[in-house]
Amino acid sequence: MNIIKVIPFENEEDAYKYLNIKLLGLITSEKDPFSNFCNVAALLGLLMKDINWVGFYFIKNNQLKLGPFSGKPACTTLSIGRGVCGKAVKEKKMVIVNDVNIFEGHVACDPESKSEIVLPITINNKVVAVLDVDSPILNRFTKEDEDGLERVVETLKKHVDWEFVEKALSIGG
Ligand code: SME
Repeated sequence: MNIIKVIPFENEEDAYKYLNIKLLGLITSEKDPFSNFCNVAALLGLLMKDINWVGFYFIKNNQLKLGPFSGKPACTTLSIGRGVCGKAVKEKKMVIVNDVNIFEGHVACDPESKSEIVLPITINNKVVAVLDVDSPILNRFTKEDEDGLERVVETLKKHVDWEFVEKALSIGG
């Protein structure tokens, strides 16, 4: 098993380098995508500072459905175009909200969340999922988070069997 230590890094860049090395180790040693999403959520929940929720939503039947996460139970269904996740899907780009209370349409699954970052995961020009991170601190997410989480998404895009994921999500309507 890949041993994960919580190390107090001096800067965010080094912290993300470590996180991304551990991430690669985890997802290249297991083929099942959903097992991997669970471990990725757990890894980010363990290693990211000052966050209260991190997880995935997957596009299913033109909505966002809750996937593996680390944090409190969350909203199970989100609409595309609404909220921070919905905006990231609609605009196919990363969305950072420094203060969720002044973001119109924010979906407050946990009233403790104050700021949020959402990255779409796009395969063949189609958004298939989002990675969502919430923080109980205003203005939590920095350029280092943008770059570090972009790398997380790039690694997932490269190593996850997305065909398997899409098939699994289409089963059961
Ligand atoms: N706040 C999100 C909803 C998901 S939760 O944060 C887990 C949004 O506005 O889309």
